[in-house]
Amino acid sequence: MDSSDSTFSSPIPQHVAIIMDGNGRWAKQRGLARMEGHEAGTENIRLILRHAGECGVRYLTLWAFSTENWRRPEAEVAGLMRILGKALVSETEELHRQGAQLRHIGDLTALDPELAASVREAMALTAHNDRIILTIAFNYGGRQELLHAVKGMLRDQVDPETVDEDIFQKYLYMPELPDPDLIVRTSGEYRISNFLLWQGAYSELHFTSKYWPDFTPEDFDAALADYASRERRFGATSAQVQAQ
Ligand code: IPE
Ligand code: IPE
Ligand code: MG
Repeated sequence: MDSSDSTFSSPIPQHVAIIMDGNGRWAKQRGLARMEGHEAGTENIRLILRHAGECGVRYLTLWAFSTENWRRPEAEVAGLMRILGKALVSETEELHRQGAQLRHIGDLTALDPELAASVREAMALTAHNDRIILTIAFNYGGRQELLHAVKGMLRDQVDPETVDEDIFQKYLYMPELPDPDLIVRTSGEYRISNFLLWQGAYSELHFTSKYWPDFTPEDFDAALADYASRERRFGATSAQVQAQ
């Protein structure tokens, strides 16, 4: 059975979204600069992406920079931008070879034009791949995405009477992105921090105390096992779910 066929639960999540948190504490623990934590965190993406693909996950969404992260010291923000630019240059060919489609959610307009252009180029190069859809949430905030949708509808003068969930969805950053079945957050924080507010309405949540650079394929397997043990009810009763 394809994982998308089941209304309720399915052993393998079709879409896993990860809040990659804890780079700074990982570095501090080792007496390193925060930037080295971000470098190590970025390195870890390759490993987890490959593993997610091998597990049969179709969509992997990774949160790399939030709209609130602009509040950090200027040097850290600049460093994070530099790391993203570098990773795009060094990893895009390999992503392409692996059949990964790179997508972006968030606001590209606030980024350095050269960086925004390289994100667009990487998306264009990989647009026809479909082995796994890797969505990078960069300069992403859930509230900002909802505002973006509302503004889009107002701009198009959408008739308020016609607005339903499907129409609203069309105005999100990536309308075709299915809701995440599972949201993982590393580093022991128990909050959503403005991530995927619309799409995460019914996601299962998995929290681990591991810092992101230390998060291994085995930790990913543990998150999948946790997910598989859940009963997704979407408001129905347990008896209804079991009768499915
Ligand atoms: C996650 O790690 C990366 C970003 C938010 C950009 P942090 O930098 O938040 O690491 P901690 O939470 O300070 O340890
Ligand atoms: C969330 O982590 C954003 C990313 C992982 C990109 P933060 O470290 O920014 O979250 P808070 O501020 O601790 O909630
Ligand atoms: Mg953090």
